[in-house]
Amino acid sequence: MSENKQGCCCCEPSSEEQAKYEQIAQVIEAYKDKPGSLIMVLHAAQQIYGYLPIELQRFIADGMNLPLSEVYGVVSFYSFFSTTERGEHTLRVCLGTACYVRGGKKLVDALEDMLEVKVGGTTADKKFTFEIARCIGACGLAPALMIDDTVFKQVAPAKLAALLSQY
Ligand code: FES
Repeated sequence: MSENKQGCCCCEPSSEEQAKYEQIAQVIEAYKDKPGSLIMVLHAAQQIYGYLPIELQRFIADGMNLPLSEVYGVVSFYSFFSTTERGEHTLRVCLGTACYVRGGKKLVDALEDMLEVKVGGTTADKKFTFEIARCIGACGLAPALMIDDTVFKQVAPAKLAALLSQY
């Protein structure tokens, strides 16, 4: 019996979703014969789709002629791959030792209140995915946090609202 790779038999994928799968199929086509290219394909797929749900992992495994377990193994090994939908921006509060002792936990508590989401979650408006980091190389100016690739140093809870409003 054939199986729909993009959705279950009772819910057809949207045209937007279909377009994303087509784009990913093109990436697979370009890389499938290149040894060691799975990570590149997964990166591209995550960029296109936003995250890597199991149906998409299966689609990639089939397209690259790899066992799903291999694809799943890579996705679950690397922290930069996500199997759940992510926000537009990734916000990471550092809880490495220096940041922790200088108030990192207070930032976490304040952000959980402001964003109305727990660590690991994504805000209801899909603006931020909220995570913890373990040292982001700014220990001298702790506590620090990152939003996407930008590091903010010596962040006080009182500064958070202004900082988030830039996004
Ligand atoms: S411990 Fe936070 S930047 Fe190093």
